[in-house]
Amino acid sequence: MSDEHHTWKIGSEPPIIRPHSLAKHRVLRAYLERYVATLTKNPRQDVFRLTLVDGFAGGGKYTDSRSGDERPGSPIIMLEAMERAAEIAQQTRSKPFNLDVNYIYIEKNPEALEHLRAVLNASKYAGLLGNQIRLLDGEFVALAPNIIKLVKGRGRAGRVIFVLDQCGYTDVPFPTLRSILHTLPNAEVILTFATDFLIDYLSEHAQTQRTAEKVGLSMPPSLIRTAKEARNWRRIIQFSLHEQIPHQTGAKFYTPFFIRSADSHRDFWLIHLSGHYRARDVMVGLHWEQSTDFAHYGRSGLNMLGYDERRDVNLTSQKMLPGFYFDDTAFASSHDALLDQLPEKLYDLSDGMPFGELFSALTNECPVTAEIMKNVLGDLSKEGIVEVRDKTATTTRRVGVQHDTDIIIPSRQKRLFLP
Ligand SMILES: C[S@@+](CC[C@H](N)C(=O)[O-])C[C@H]1O[C@@H](n2cnc3c(N)ncnc32)[C@H](O)[C@@H]1O
Repeated sequence: MSDEHHTWKIGSEPPIIRPHSLAKHRVLRAYLERYVATLTKNPRQDVFRLTLVDGFAGGGKYTDSRSGDERPGSPIIMLEAMERAAEIAQQTRSKPFNLDVNYIYIEKNPEALEHLRAVLNASKYAGLLGNQIRLLDGEFVALAPNIIKLVKGRGRAGRVIFVLDQCGYTDVPFPTLRSILHTLPNAEVILTFATDFLIDYLSEHAQTQRTAEKVGLSMPPSLIRTAKEARNWRRIIQFSLHEQIPHQTGAKFYTPFFIRSADSHRDFWLIHLSGHYRARDVMVGLHWEQSTDFAHYGRSGLNMLGYDERRDVNLTSQKMLPGFYFDDTAFASSHDALLDQLPEKLYDLSDGMPFGELFSALTNECPVTAEIMKNVLGDLSKEGIVEVRDKTATTTRRVGVQHDTDIIIPSRQKRLFLP
């Protein structure tokens, strides 16, 4: 399925990029830079090996209708982000640092692939084509097993990020993601999923069952029937998706962002899947930083992070709708909510739990970073509700959590007064 916004032809003007795609590109660029920065903190490390897979690469270039400027597509954004990440890593090192990245770009439309080749050939990255950059003509799912082998062949760490920007919701079945995440424990996935298209399509007919099965979802007719009887039926289906995605993909950590397109009035989800809580922390931290673009929906239940064109200050010059933004107000309300909720979560942990494990257990539920949670635990410790001790549990930390191994213990006296 491709549309006028994703149709490339050599010699024709590149397609117009829509604001929600620009927002998606901002997240991608920032995440890739942050990912490398996080994993290359140690200045003694002089090489970092990574594979970036763009499974739905497109033609490499767009036109911005507002300025008439050219805008890079995701394959070029990956190259630019890695160039910047290498510069940043070099700043803290005296010896040369080698950011050794292989790029695999897959595109099933031959005209789009040729357009991408031409864009790369005309760019400063032309010399990488055929060496570090491979262009593959075909469908992502069919090529996935070979890509897994290629990544495994590059070394034990198997660091790889799959950017899977499908147009609908059927081209990246969850069993394929499960096999990637299972075989490559350090793999991460950034997946586009056209939630509203799926919801519009759902019916009690047998074809829906076949499609859901292909995607790897369970959408029994009884669920669809019950959901459709409810006033907020879209929400019910979204909630079921929200619960099924980490389960069906086997991802330990999961962050869904919604992206609302003003012109199609349809929500997409940009889903981040990973095997480590720090990866999720980096993604959520990035949203706190880019506080103008993203909003978080719902304090409980379906905890969604999202982008809404109507709230994009770059377009509207003002925040139009009330909501949870990753700003000072959101910071204060998250802090207060956690101050309320954490003691209850900690109540049963009489032996305590290392901070890393605690954050890892709760992180999928809330849009806060490790820093915010440490802050709240610091306050709870000042109030005597919890104790923070070092990993041997012998030294009490008066200043709050210092390391992920520090142990959080609910204090005995205060436990008597908790519900
Ligand atoms: C949304 S566009 C990609 C945009 C690109 N990621 C970017 O941000 O610049 C999706 C692209 O995937 C291609 N495509 C569709 N189905 C595919 C499949 N099964 N495997 C690989 N490519 C596919 C389409 O031809 C289209 O160019």
